[in-house]
Amino acid sequence: MNKKYKVPSSFANKAWVDKRKYDELYAWSIEDPIGFWKEHGQCIDWIRPYSKIMDYSFVPPNVYIKWYEDGALNACANCLDRHLDTRRNQIAIYWEGDNPKEKRTLTYGELFREVSKFANGLKKIGIKKGDRVAIYLPMIPEAVVSMLACARLGAIHSVVFGGFSPEALAKRILDCEAKLVITADEGFRRGQMISFKQNTDKALSDKEIKTVENVIVIKHSRNNVPWERGRDFWYHELICDVSEDCPPEAVNAEDPLFILYTSGSTGTPKGVLHTTGGYMVYSALTFKYIFDYKEEEIYWCTADIGWITGHTYGVYGPLAAGATTLLFEGVPDYPDVSRYWQIVESYKVNILYTAPTALRSLMRYGSEPVTRYNRSSLRLLGTVGEPIDPTSWEWYYRVVGEERCPIVDTWWQTETGGIVLSPLPGAMDLKPGSVAKPFFGIKAGLIDKNCDLLEGPGEGSLVLSTSWPGQMRTVYRNHQRFVETYFSRCHGTFFTDDGARRDEDGDYWITGRVDDVIKISGHRLGTAEIESVMTAHPKVSESAVVAFPHKIKGSGIYLFIVLAEGEKPSNQLTKDLKQWARQKIGPIAAPDFIQWTEGLPKTRSGKVMRRILRQIAANQPNDLGDTSTLSDPDVVEDLIKHRLNR
Ligand code: PRX
Repeated sequence: MNKKYKVPSSFANKAWVDKRKYDELYAWSIEDPIGFWKEHGQCIDWIRPYSKIMDYSFVPPNVYIKWYEDGALNACANCLDRHLDTRRNQIAIYWEGDNPKEKRTLTYGELFREVSKFANGLKKIGIKKGDRVAIYLPMIPEAVVSMLACARLGAIHSVVFGGFSPEALAKRILDCEAKLVITADEGFRRGQMISFKQNTDKALSDKEIKTVENVIVIKHSRNNVPWERGRDFWYHELICDVSEDCPPEAVNAEDPLFILYTSGSTGTPKGVLHTTGGYMVYSALTFKYIFDYKEEEIYWCTADIGWITGHTYGVYGPLAAGATTLLFEGVPDYPDVSRYWQIVESYKVNILYTAPTALRSLMRYGSEPVTRYNRSSLRLLGTVGEPIDPTSWEWYYRVVGEERCPIVDTWWQTETGGIVLSPLPGAMDLKPGSVAKPFFGIKAGLIDKNCDLLEGPGEGSLVLSTSWPGQMRTVYRNHQRFVETYFSRCHGTFFTDDGARRDEDGDYWITGRVDDVIKISGHRLGTAEIESVMTAHPKVSESAVVAFPHKIKGSGIYLFIVLAEGEKPSNQLTKDLKQWARQKIGPIAAPDFIQWTEGLPKTRSGKVMRRILRQIAANQPNDLGDTSTLSDPDVVEDLIKHRLNR
């Protein structure tokens, strides 16, 4: 029997959605999606009203998705202009630096002015509707300003996580053919400097990049950085003499808002393309209902803007709702492990949305660093990005939230644009580890190996069988890959690549990825991506990467290496290979363990049997299953014998 927590009536009574309303609205959204989304499309402002609601096909080869296609709007105006009459002096962004002494605030009026000026600055250097702009920045207010300034002009932003290496940045710039890169001099993490400008220069030294005309640099550390005259501009200089008036560009609902690269099972990261109308409607609506956001509340999403969570629930969702949001440059354990709670106390945070990894990393220090600070402002807690184990859930609920705050465990993906499965906090009992029920308009299902839909309780692959407004529209410049990755495995449905279980109450429990994507501290990486980088090392002949259960990070990276002819394993080479992964992709891709091996377990057709490697990495060599189809079964003995003692 699963443990259940009733939502306190003090919370439920005031929530936007109670049980009856959820049932009613959900039934409406499924039985009459056009009526439902026609009405709920009104949660944002339109420059030209829509009359068409949705049109889509999930059936290959002709897959297409359109929402509100004859409407026109501007995403930035929805986040700023429409709030000016009522919220000009309300704080839009509280910013807290990595250094606790560094703080800034921006009201809606100030953010509006800054964004308008920057949009005019962008115009001045020739950025226009449809141009791609790469944003490679630390978590500073200008990151939000940059995204919104692009949106104001109808330029398409592609934010690259600041933890990615110059090479990873270069790949993304190349793929989206960016005309401009917006970066900073330097950023800070745990008091250490991160060389954003230098990394950008290194990325742009890639001879294949031919599209970048300019680099805009935000002064943050204020140290000297290398400069290329004519190409590089300081942000503050660019906007010092421009007008504060920049009317928002009316874009069609299906015009792109942004591209965000994410890892898949195979190949290089995919440019997930989101368009404007449906994405904004879905962001605004899920934000309001799932976080039960009320006027004047202080909301804090800890995700970096380089990930989809930072886009939808750090920027577009909360600002469309007129919320006050907190932007934090630092990490949970610097200068000490109370940092989160000290921030909660000092800003009186009402809603906290974070990742299980952060909770696990803090939980090991016990409750005292938490209880030392006043958390009575907290009303709702959320998690995202990876499964949360019941122990961490209970700790979050009891210690952080003092058994007063519901937890919304929200399941979604870069591809889904917004939250797809989650408890609605006033409507549902909470079960630690369950992502509960589908949001309005989402038709979720489980399929077995034959792609047959399962009825009632059971376990299988999670599919979504109808479209929703926040769904990605294509893989940038590769629609074929979009069709093949998501719609070809189970005809006519969107295949999520996550496994899930459904219990007798119809609640979902995510069991993890069913493909070769791994989540390291909630960050998404593809094993193929790491392998191709490792195999490119001159001393490596073959490599295979699998995830293994990691107490803090959820999953860690375990790397098997077959060395090139004549090369010998050594501690130095282990270090070098870890460094290689950091340098080629970023610190998040550095392997936790490297095991040398003479060969990889392959089938007769040459496919690596990852199942076996996963068992070895998890230190469960007695549970290898059937190995009879291996071309060389002796490899397994060798792998077991040399597995790392942990
Ligand atoms: O495996 C699921 C896991 O994160 C994957 C999506 O990663 P990404 O595109 O980076 O987006 C993360 C933030 C939305 C999913 O396929 N995941 C996300 N949320 C949860 C989760 N796994 C379990 N529980 C969750 N709440």
